[in-house]
Amino acid sequence: MTPALRSLLTGMPKDELHIHIEGSLEPELIFQLARRNGVSLPYASVEQLRAAYAFTNLQSFLDIYYAGASVLLTEDDFYAMAMAYFERAAADHVVHAELFFDPQTHTSRGVPMAAVIGGLYRACQDARQRWGLHAELILCFLRHLSQEDAMASLELALTYRHQFIGVGLDSSELGHPPEKFTQVFARCRDLGLRVVAHAGEEGPPAYIHSALDVLGAERIDHGVQAEQDSALMQRLARQCTPLTVCPLSNIKLCVFDELRQHNLRRLLEAGLCVTINSDDPSYFGGYLNDNYIQTFEALDLGPEHAIQLARHSFEASFVDPALRDHWLIQLDEYHQAWSATHV
Ligand code: ADE
Ligand code: ZN
Repeated sequence: MTPALRSLLTGMPKDELHIHIEGSLEPELIFQLARRNGVSLPYASVEQLRAAYAFTNLQSFLDIYYAGASVLLTEDDFYAMAMAYFERAAADHVVHAELFFDPQTHTSRGVPMAAVIGGLYRACQDARQRWGLHAELILCFLRHLSQEDAMASLELALTYRHQFIGVGLDSSELGHPPEKFTQVFARCRDLGLRVVAHAGEEGPPAYIHSALDVLGAERIDHGVQAEQDSALMQRLARQCTPLTVCPLSNIKLCVFDELRQHNLRRLLEAGLCVTINSDDPSYFGGYLNDNYIQTFEALDLGPEHAIQLARHSFEASFVDPALRDHWLIQLDEYHQAWSATHV
């Protein structure tokens, strides 16, 4: 990659729309929190934990991801985790981020919802003060659990309704289709919450259709399996439904064998509103700029793709339209200044 393209990718303002905040927990922080909270881990050291990050599919990752999250107990733990992410995101010129969090993973261990949302929300406020980084929270339901469990989690979270903007659906996809959560998402829509859902990461195109039709998803997280269904591809392009694609995640979880085989470029060329995201950066070997750089190298993408992907990231976000326009203008200005020095 030329130094010029690298500087454009790393320096341009961008939005991150698919980051599980629990997936940003670095092994060092996991061990620090485990010591502080007296939680025992099935790994003897940071090195041993890192060595276990050799995944064969989504489930093999989720087993370790939930073990890592078990060290989070207090409001301060959630705050520290989110601030560590924001520091890295700010360095990557992320100006806006929509963070997923999984409350059921924590409340099922006796952690109060107040500690989960309170710590994350306080970090969002401080990120704005410290780095000018705007952040919002999206509460995810775990699809391997029941709809009743999701509904109970929603009810608990409603005390903090003004502290999150939307809901999502994550965890083990295969065997847990979107229609399992029809009622809880209907309730969320009635409450005015924004709706996203993981679909078509490992699961079939039918899950993407039902995430749209049954849950009312406004964005599809991953969605890379859409390529198997040409009618669905046309629908996603026509409706401008954004896909939050996570290239390094897809390689680590063996959705594609190699980054060179990733379909991101084809999805873009089919006219889809594709965005690049990090998913679980601590586990998948890279934060947002690492995802951009490695994907651009592997797929031989250029400056016009960079600007297109950053534009998509703002267009796909749930941010206030005035603020979105402000960042789109900043992006154009950044591009013009970059072009003037790199012709
Ligand atoms: N939770 C955290 N990361 C996830 C992913 N990539 N897919 C589904 N659920 C997740
Ligand atoms: Zn995800």
